Amino acid sequence: MSKRALKTSAITGGGAGEPADLDFARSLLAGLRAERKSIPCRFLYDRRGSELFEQITRLAEYYPTRTETKILRACAGDIREATAPGSLLVEFGSGSSTKTEILLSALDRLKGYVAIDISPSALAEASSRLSGRFAGLTIYTVEGDFSRDLELPGEFGTVPKIGFFPGSTIGNLVPDEAVHLLANMGRILGQGSRLIVGADLRKDREVLLAAYNDAQGVTAAFNLNILARANRDLNTKFDLSLFEHVASYDSERGRIDMNLVSRSDQVVRVLSHDIAFAKGEAIHTEHSHKYEIEGFQLLAQRAGWVPARVWTDADQLFSIHELHQPQAAD
Ligand code: AVJ
Repeated sequence: MSKRALKTSAITGGGAGEPADLDFARSLLAGLRAERKSIPCRFLYDRRGSELFEQITRLAEYYPTRTETKILRACAGDIREATAPGSLLVEFGSGSSTKTEILLSALDRLKGYVAIDISPSALAEASSRLSGRFAGLTIYTVEGDFSRDLELPGEFGTVPKIGFFPGSTIGNLVPDEAVHLLANMGRILGQGSRLIVGADLRKDREVLLAAYNDAQGVTAAFNLNILARANRDLNTKFDLSLFEHVASYDSERGRIDMNLVSRSDQVVRVLSHDIAFAKGEAIHTEHSHKYEIEGFQLLAQRAGWVPARVWTDADQLFSIHELHQPQAAD
């Protein structure tokens, strides 16, 4: 088994190149001092937040993970057929999930698997886990931010590539941001590449609301953990009992919004600033966009991709899209 670690050069800006606490401190303060309060959703996923998200994926009400996994099992053979021997599977995110394993099992005769992630520990974990499970597989890790000017190593220039971006993570971005990210993935993967991307579908609001307001309160704990994290890492003094998890569905935009709503008028000291909350005032923590199949394809086209096949489950809960990056002459 061969395994190689390749690093891209340091990337400037939030998230990479500065300590996590400093990034969180800056972003928290900026978000809470704005007219409409918000905290970027990436801060939901510290160690505790990632554990809680794992629990969410197993909840009866939270259909996306198990549905996407089921679709992937069913369409992996189709994906295999269209994959030239000697291709590289490039995952955006570190791929420690069963979804990655399903694809790796189906796609034999790969040149290798490339995991791209901003977190070195996530890359190390994914790499050791997958190398144990797929003994003959060459695993490359690329540390960096795939929403920015990351490049794959030049030696991969002419190798056919298939990108993988599961989990409906694309739904966390507002449409214009999603277009930018998809376009950047196209640039990273290059001409003639393909991308397999998971997108949650629009559906009855009852089903959506239940998925983000589970009966056990795991999603509430996940959302509130962003304030618990601030208390742990930045020594703030948020009283979690004074904030309520509220997930609502905006059917016009087709998105779930998660908020933490203040239960009373209160002032919280955050990094030497007094932040005032009115009773009922919200901190926005996450968007989760849901797409019609055609809507997602239009988004992909705006980003320079050509939509190809789409796979869904029988209940039309979730979609997996195949996109093509045209050759320059096309
Ligand atoms: C991991 C972003 C796809 O939006 O459904 C789950 C995160 N938030 N429950 C989603 C999440 C609340 C999840 N994604």
